[in-house]
Amino acid sequence: MPSTPIDLRDRPPYDPDQFSIKPEYRDDVDHILVSGGEIEDRITRLAEEISQDYQDRDGDGVYLICTLKGAMQYFATLAPQLEFDAPVQEGFLRANRYSDGTPGDGADVTLFTDDPIDNMDVLVVEDMIDQGTTLDTILTQLNTHNPNTIDTTVLFDKPANRTTNVDIAHTGFTIPDEFVVGYGIDYDERYRRLRHLAVL
Ligand code: IMP
Ligand code: MG
Repeated sequence: MPSTPIDLRDRPPYDPDQFSIKPEYRDDVDHILVSGGEIEDRITRLAEEISQDYQDRDGDGVYLICTLKGAMQYFATLAPQLEFDAPVQEGFLRANRYSDGTPGDGADVTLFTDDPIDNMDVLVVEDMIDQGTTLDTILTQLNTHNPNTIDTTVLFDKPANRTTNVDIAHTGFTIPDEFVVGYGIDYDERYRRLRHLAVL
């Protein structure tokens, strides 16, 4: 059984002064929702749970998919800690929400691999789910390649604005309805290298 996500919605945030923040970001951070250290401890636990979850899969192997660019950091921390009996491959995809999109509109999904994923046990590693449209489109697209199983892990779940029901197997944190940056997540391509999850 997966553990309960850590709920940050009713937890007092940290003062940016309480943690080390890169000079280039320091003036822009208003508060920190969760520190880099806590994020990494949680990922270690998720790695145990995911490894356990994949012990009884009967596909041709495990296929880990990193969704660019936001999940880069999560993927880089998670993947080396996963233990599988089956052979493992990694691939990347890029999903862009249509910029003028209304809820439920979908996204452009580009798979950066020619590896066949048919009959593989696929794990989509995603940084964040908000409305759910992006993940829903990714899963629909990947399903056309006939994987044996397909599951998702999301580091940060923002449930407040969900318009599409997406089943997530392993969730790190539940976060409040605020625009967050850090740990790989950007605002206008900035702040990805901030170690903590923060609000500007
Ligand atoms: P949705 O689930 O289709 O609404 O889209 C999720 C995507 O929107 C994420 O992968 C991010 O790229 C972006 N996004 C949603 N909320 C935030 C946020 O708080 N900060 C940065 N990007 C966000
Ligand atoms: Mg993303």
